[in-house]
Amino acid sequence: MSLLFSPLKLRSITLKNRIAMSPMCQYSAQGGQVTEWHLLHYPTRAVGGAGLIIVEATAVEARGVISPDDLGIWSDEHLPGLKELARRIKSAGAVPGIQIAHAGRKAGVLSPWKGGKPLHLWTPVAPSPLAFDEGWPVPQELDLAGLEEVRWAFQQGARRALLAGFEVLEIHMAHGYLLHSFLSPLTNHRTDRYGGSRENRMRFPLEVAEAVREVWPAELPLLVRVSAVDWAEGGWSLEDTLALAEALRQRGVDLLDCSSGGALPGVRIPLGPGYQVPFAAEVRKATGLATGAVGLITEPSQAEAVLQQGQAELVLLGRVLLREPYWPYRAGQALGHKTWPPQYERAF
Ligand SMILES: Cc1cc2nc3c(=O)[nH]c(=O)nc-3n(C[C@H](O)[C@H](O)[C@H](O)COP(=O)(O)O)c2cc1C
Repeated sequence: MSLLFSPLKLRSITLKNRIAMSPMCQYSAQGGQVTEWHLLHYPTRAVGGAGLIIVEATAVEARGVISPDDLGIWSDEHLPGLKELARRIKSAGAVPGIQIAHAGRKAGVLSPWKGGKPLHLWTPVAPSPLAFDEGWPVPQELDLAGLEEVRWAFQQGARRALLAGFEVLEIHMAHGYLLHSFLSPLTNHRTDRYGGSRENRMRFPLEVAEAVREVWPAELPLLVRVSAVDWAEGGWSLEDTLALAEALRQRGVDLLDCSSGGALPGVRIPLGPGYQVPFAAEVRKATGLATGAVGLITEPSQAEAVLQQGQAELVLLGRVLLREPYWPYRAGQALGHKTWPPQYERAF
């Protein structure tokens, strides 16, 4: 019996399989609004058989977009588009999920295919006034009122995600964006209760998780994506991630999506098949929290092995699902599972 095609129950939501589409910015929004692209792109992967679709990093504040082409959830005006998107994903057979995000000091850059350079259109915010890299803006340090605003924005984002019909919510605490930059000692140099010790650096991200859990219904699952390590001397470590995972578990987070890196430029990451899977395995073993494994998982047998070896509950696929939306059906065929709908009968 393949585990990849066994259902996964998270609170009241049952995913039909363990294949999730990893959140991936499409740089195709306008003013934060869903466009035709999103309405085609995401439902295609739902029709393609993934059990869970996590819509890309969607900004909870206008100053928190990565690029001006990102999706937004900072205004009620974003609701009609997001509603239609969630509805189409669900009607195509997947559970609709969304990642809410704030880019912090990495906000305001051009889309990758336009060069990815900082635009300097506004001053981004961060725990400390440290630029991401040469040529990047020096962010404004968030004061207590600023922290309150961001916390509230995440809460409002969660409230809107619910109104839009999403059933799984993921908070983005990874890749050097705002919440990750509070966690890492390399990007957080504060001397107040939000900086210094690990407990202090975790304080704001945990407050955000609490604020979100308050409005995200008890019957719906809450996920958090972390960078399990910074891949840098003196940075956030796996041991830190285990402490964070435990604190998040106690606050009602249901699954930790284990990614890595992004806090600093020019870091060497030992890329290879499943290179981040050991992080998911460690978190699961040490805390008992369910985990998601992501990163260069491309083959059905590899995805199945992650689950068989008890390294994660969920496998998230990124680029392979861009290349091959129907990957889940190929996997079903390879693993001896007839999971396709009758419409595909003659093709598989
Ligand atoms: C085009 C693109 C956009 C991405 N956008 C996001 C994002 O919005 N949020 C996020 O957490 N990760 C983002 N990622 C990272 C992916 O979710 C995933 O973790 C990464 O690509 C590794 O998985 P893969 O090897 O299966 O692609 C993005 C990756 C790509 C290629």
